[in-house]
Amino acid sequence: LRHLISAADLTRDDAVLILDTAEEMARVADRPIKKLPTLRGRTVVNLFFEDSTRTRISFEAAEKRLSADVINFTAKGSSVSKGESLKDTAQTLEAMGVDAVVIRHGASGAPYRLANSGWIDAAVINAGDGTHQHPTQALLDAFTMRRRLVGRDTGLGQDLDGRRITIVGDILHSRVARSNVDLLHTLGAEVTLVAPPTLVPVGVGNWPCEVSYDLDAVLPKSDAVMMLRVQRERMNAAFFPTEREYSRRYGLDGDRMARMPEHAVVMHPGPMVRGMEITAEVADSERCTVVEQVANGVSIRMAVLYLLLGGNEPAVTHTRTEEK
Ligand code: CP
Repeated sequence: LRHLISAADLTRDDAVLILDTAEEMARVADRPIKKLPTLRGRTVVNLFFEDSTRTRISFEAAEKRLSADVINFTAKGSSVSKGESLKDTAQTLEAMGVDAVVIRHGASGAPYRLANSGWIDAAVINAGDGTHQHPTQALLDAFTMRRRLVGRDTGLGQDLDGRRITIVGDILHSRVARSNVDLLHTLGAEVTLVAPPTLVPVGVGNWPCEVSYDLDAVLPKSDAVMMLRVQRERMNAAFFPTEREYSRRYGLDGDRMARMPEHAVVMHPGPMVRGMEITAEVADSERCTVVEQVANGVSIRMAVLYLLLGGNEPAVTHTRTEEK
């Protein structure tokens, strides 16, 4: 891989390699010194045209743990406000010697354009574009599911093959849902989307998943339930009845969580709106992986950066004690 633009571009072997490399990277976080020299002398720019907490900070943490030089760019406070284009912004940054660009943009397709336009030579990593894709989120979600669900008494096979994953909420505006459907299908999981009819995209019939409007019917058959935020900032009309009605039909509370199998986990990409799609009781419960997902995001982003930029060096050199 030269760029990471879409989860749909990953073969099963690509995805498994990233997940296995992330396991190696996670071991670095347990060391007293959490740094590897792998990207020493390489420069990564984080180019954020949209707000972010988790993705921006975890990419920065991953880059620093791999010893890369890091440049942070946010559109707010930059010459973008004076009308500078994506092309000119990217070329300005590349003139300063950048090896990789991590880009978040409100326009679906912006990372693809950057990677395929010939404007820059750097590797491009999509950190979320419009309603299109968020591939590192899907990878960290799959990593979290593997860690939580594989090897436990679920009566299912190895890895994510046959795991039943339910994604609930604003599918229409969710790049997280699209990326997860693509990656989970590649990894052999069975995905069901649950949403009000107004928040289901046209064309979902062509996606490799099922669609249901009945959350209560799907919960007992789920190994993981991923709750999504309703993205009001991307809506210009009333897409759902009222918050109260939405929570009543599609929110996850303690009673609903009790209908899930004992081994099943609750996931959320964040940011959560407590009281809307998820109650505080569920968000703070041991079954909820939201904080774990954030920690796993650093390992996944280290793995992606290493595989795109790291060349032939071993990802992690183990000490003798670790090898025993
Ligand atoms: N999950 C996610 O992309 O969160 P941020 O918008 O905070 O990066």
